[in-house]
Amino acid sequence: MIKVGIIGLGYWGPNLVRNFQSVNGAEVIAVADFDDNRLGKIHQLYPKIKLFKDAEELFNLSEIDAVVLATPINTHYTLAKTALLKGKHVLVEKPLATSRAEVLELIDIAGEKELSLMVDHTFLYTGAVQKIKSVVDSGELGKLQYFDSTRINLGLFNPNWSVIWDLAVHDLSIFDYISGGKKPVAVSATGVSHTQLGIENLAYISLYFEDDTFAHITSSWISPVKIRKTLIGGSNKMIIYDDVEPTEKIKIYDSGFSVSSPEDVHKWLIDYRFGDIYIPKLPQMEALKGVAEDFIGSIRDKSLPLASSESGLNVVTILEAAQKSLVNRGQTINL
Ligand SMILES: NC(=O)c1ccc[n+]([C@@H]2O[C@H](COP(=O)([O-])OP(=O)(O)OC[C@H]3O[C@@H](n4cnc5c(N)ncnc54)[C@H](O)[C@@H]3O)[C@@H](O)[C@H]2O)c1
Repeated sequence: MIKVGIIGLGYWGPNLVRNFQSVNGAEVIAVADFDDNRLGKIHQLYPKIKLFKDAEELFNLSEIDAVVLATPINTHYTLAKTALLKGKHVLVEKPLATSRAEVLELIDIAGEKELSLMVDHTFLYTGAVQKIKSVVDSGELGKLQYFDSTRINLGLFNPNWSVIWDLAVHDLSIFDYISGGKKPVAVSATGVSHTQLGIENLAYISLYFEDDTFAHITSSWISPVKIRKTLIGGSNKMIIYDDVEPTEKIKIYDSGFSVSSPEDVHKWLIDYRFGDIYIPKLPQMEALKGVAEDFIGSIRDKSLPLASSESGLNVVTILEAAQKSLVNRGQTINL
């Protein structure tokens, strides 16, 4: 039995407690939060779980094998480092940390101590993203040409971190996964803050690659409607992934274009193809249960989880560059 401790019982932490409690071979034995009310709620549901006010006290429990961090972004690096140094396997909520340097240090420590370090890139564990990945990997899509994702809604403003650290992190993790870890060579981002906090609540990120693949991500906390829509274009087919749709989240379009005689500009012929559209049946699963199972599996089998520390590094590298560009009004940051 792998004994788990969970830190942070705010909005997201209780979901992790519930899911880890249902994983075979794992048991949540302790939780920590500064807030007594939040501890009290967990105690009502799971009276056997030990309660702590501070993460440090939980880390000192020798029987804990693994810890899960569901605390604010700026605490991830310090808490993860402390837990790893105490010999615990660590699952960190997204994003893994706040800079590439921090993530690299955590990866080094985990490697030295032979511990599992994973990040909760929840969407990788959804039926929809699993399906997209299989369509891309099978070659059905053709060469990946563009990834254009919109994730917008009204609220919840974070007083410390711009909207890209909250929302674009999901799109970047999905892109990283379906593209097989394709790395951009340059990043540019624009956006604005509408509050005295100076924290950008609306942002647009562009990613440039060595080839003609292009990615664009729109993130906003100030949209009157909730949109979670991603267009993925390939040389053979195109996908529309609408996560707000209850069942028909993915539509695969047999659409495309081809250009003939590109040598002579005057004789260019563009041929458009509008073929069938199909809606695949998706496996129904709670993504967070998949996250919890993958983390426990990675400890038990010493295997690499889908949402590995490497994918956490790729995402944080882009977020850090995008934030730098954002404050410099879209300046291109080469990676
Ligand atoms: N994967 C997802 O889809 C998803 C969704 C929401 C949030 N998140 C992530 O989860 C994390 C937490 O977000 P949230 O919205 O739940 O935050 P929150 O502010 O609602 O809760 C954080 C909790 O951590 C506690 N805390 C902070 N430092 C602590 C410490 N040292 N010891 C003990 N308790 C401590 C706070 O008291 C608070 O209750 C963030 O990284 C966020 O990005 C992920």
